[in-house]
Amino acid sequence: MAFTNFPPALLNIWRGMEATHLLDAKTAALRRRSIRRYRKAPVPEGLLKEILEAALRAPSAWNLQPWRIVVVRDPATKRALREAAFGQAQVEEAPVVLVLCADLEDALNHLDEVIHPGVQGEKREAQKQAIQRAFAAMGQEERASWAAGQSYILLGYLLLLLEAYGLGSVPMLGFDPERVKAILGLPSHAAIPALVALGYPAEEGYPSHRLPLDRVVSWR
Ligand SMILES: Cc1cc2nc3c(=O)[nH]c(=O)nc-3n(C[C@H](O)[C@H](O)[C@H](O)COP(=O)(O)O)c2cc1C
Repeated sequence: MAFTNFPPALLNIWRGMEATHLLDAKTAALRRRSIRRYRKAPVPEGLLKEILEAALRAPSAWNLQPWRIVVVRDPATKRALREAAFGQAQVEEAPVVLVLCADLEDALNHLDEVIHPGVQGEKREAQKQAIQRAFAAMGQEERASWAAGQSYILLGYLLLLLEAYGLGSVPMLGFDPERVKAILGLPSHAAIPALVALGYPAEEGYPSHRLPLDRVVSWR
């Protein structure tokens, strides 16, 4: 269907309606492929928020949720990120690039945000101290790597949800994290586990090629 003559407001309403027809988890997992070419159509902010809200349900150890996400739509910023991503065209051409940032310091400095409100009084204090103790011996690099590991759980949720909502995406590790942090003014101690370019797909992507179950799974 060609959208060129549609008024943008109507188009967004239509896309919003389309979003109610979501793929189930299995269909989304089987259909998802990395998509590196996108239609020019913008991704409505409301839709993106809905997807991010769902992705943020991802679990993390201690429920620390050390991930932070920068949504980049500004063309000049995307151009700068493309340079930091060794020229990967999809970083500039996608309508949206998500920069996944893992910031354990921020999480540890705000433990009250993440400890369940049902845990109160002495138990709450004990939990805070246990968490602080668990990370006290870790150096900065180990902390960043721990937080990045947690953030990949969120990334998995996100990729599946994007597919379920009819969006194409590609996760990327091909970038210079120091340059990405400098461009976005992110703290030096943070890790950047991935960039995710996304938009309405303009290609099908390569057919999946995966190891068979018996190569990966053993039963005892
Ligand atoms: C953590 C991670 C980093 C990746 N980095 C890049 C990248 O920098 N550039 C790119 O084009 N694809 C990148 N990919 C995409 C992979 O090449 C792709 O997921 C893999 O070949 C499987 O193909 P599929 O996603 O189409 O199933 C990355 C994927 C993951 C999960």
